[in-house]
Amino acid sequence: MAEFSPSNPVRVGFIGVGAVTAYHHLPGLRLDPRAKLTAICDADPTLLAKRQAEWGIEHATTDAIALCNDDSIDAVVIATPNDTHRPIAVAAAEAGKHVMAEKPLGLNAAEVGDMYEAARDASVVHMTAFTYRFAPAMRYIRSLVKSGGLGEPRHFRSQRFLDWPETSWGWRQYKDRAGAGDLFDMTIHRIDFAIDLMGPIARVCGAVARFAPRDKTADGQPCKPSEVDDWSSLIGEFQSGATGVWEGTTLAKGYHRDGFGHEWAEINGSEGSAVYRLHEPNVVLLGKRGHDLAPVAVPAEFLKPAGSPRDVAEGAPATVFRYDLIWEFISAIVEDRPAVPSFHDGLNAQIVADSVLDSHRRRAWVDTPIAPL
Ligand SMILES: NC(=O)c1ccc[n+]([C@@H]2O[C@H](COP(=O)([O-])OP(=O)(O)OC[C@H]3O[C@@H](n4cnc5c(N)ncnc54)[C@H](O)[C@@H]3O)[C@@H](O)[C@H]2O)c1
Repeated sequence: MAEFSPSNPVRVGFIGVGAVTAYHHLPGLRLDPRAKLTAICDADPTLLAKRQAEWGIEHATTDAIALCNDDSIDAVVIATPNDTHRPIAVAAAEAGKHVMAEKPLGLNAAEVGDMYEAARDASVVHMTAFTYRFAPAMRYIRSLVKSGGLGEPRHFRSQRFLDWPETSWGWRQYKDRAGAGDLFDMTIHRIDFAIDLMGPIARVCGAVARFAPRDKTADGQPCKPSEVDDWSSLIGEFQSGATGVWEGTTLAKGYHRDGFGHEWAEINGSEGSAVYRLHEPNVVLLGKRGHDLAPVAVPAEFLKPAGSPRDVAEGAPATVFRYDLIWEFISAIVEDRPAVPSFHDGLNAQIVADSVLDSHRRRAWVDTPIAPL
């Protein structure tokens, strides 16, 4: 394992320099003195040239596999459409590159299994970009749950409602590129953090629905209609015996809230309840029996990862915790340890998400086995 330091930083290549890379990963990387953005890749040469000029990056290519095989980088961040994650991640792992990939890791659990096995077998650091695990309120609630502060966790609830336009969602609305809609784009995060907080899910009963044809682009041009869900839901049973209920949609009128939408995730335990809300991620709502839920500030130690130079007073709270993903990825590389959440976590969430579609198709409950390590 190479010794990394600010004078010998982890050399990172960004593959896919669209929305999420610009919004989450670039600011995260710029905050981390242990890492350097060495190369960028995008299939769109116009966007690539624009990013190269804006970000001042010398090395740019449209060939993701060539970047994975490039000796001048140590790690890649994959933020391309979902159908491209598997071949790029497998190539990166086989070339000995540490790899963080966006969620959903693939189009289905079989693809994600290939990615996990390739990264595991190559002994590289692998990480799934499950952003909301890094929200301060989520980190604090996790510590309350694990220390028994809520008693025995009995019930989990997640609501994620966004008020997005009904025009085309681009590649996200086609099954061969995205796999599914709201379920793989939004609800999969909530499946992941539920497993992290409550333990493995044993079985689910799910349903999805498409509300709008999305057959026009934002500028009014006709396009192929959407094939994916605008709404996804599941009820589930955890192995612990606790229950869970999840609901999400991108088409809930009146839930705009400056683009952040409505997010509410809650655990009800035998001693107390705790609530995370995205629009106020530095505050939790806590309640004990016989009292009302009340706001409590997240303690300072949970506002950012240990050692991170990020100033917690800077920027919009619902945005800036997203920069902590890169901190975790680079920390795992520098400290020669597994990253959290890993591709294995991405695989377990994918198994549950796939089972929601299967359950809906079969109108039946579906068991959700845990992936072998
Ligand atoms: N973790 C989160 O909170 C979060 C948020 C947004 C998006 N995402 C995920 O990130 C990924 C990208 O989403 P986005 O919103 O940035 O999409 P986007 O369409 O804005 O960007 C994707 C980019 O990938 C490029 N691309 C396509 N195929 C490529 C290939 N083979 N090689 C190199 N570049 C290629 C496209 O040209 C585009 O610029 C998706 O998997 C999405 O689900 C995650």
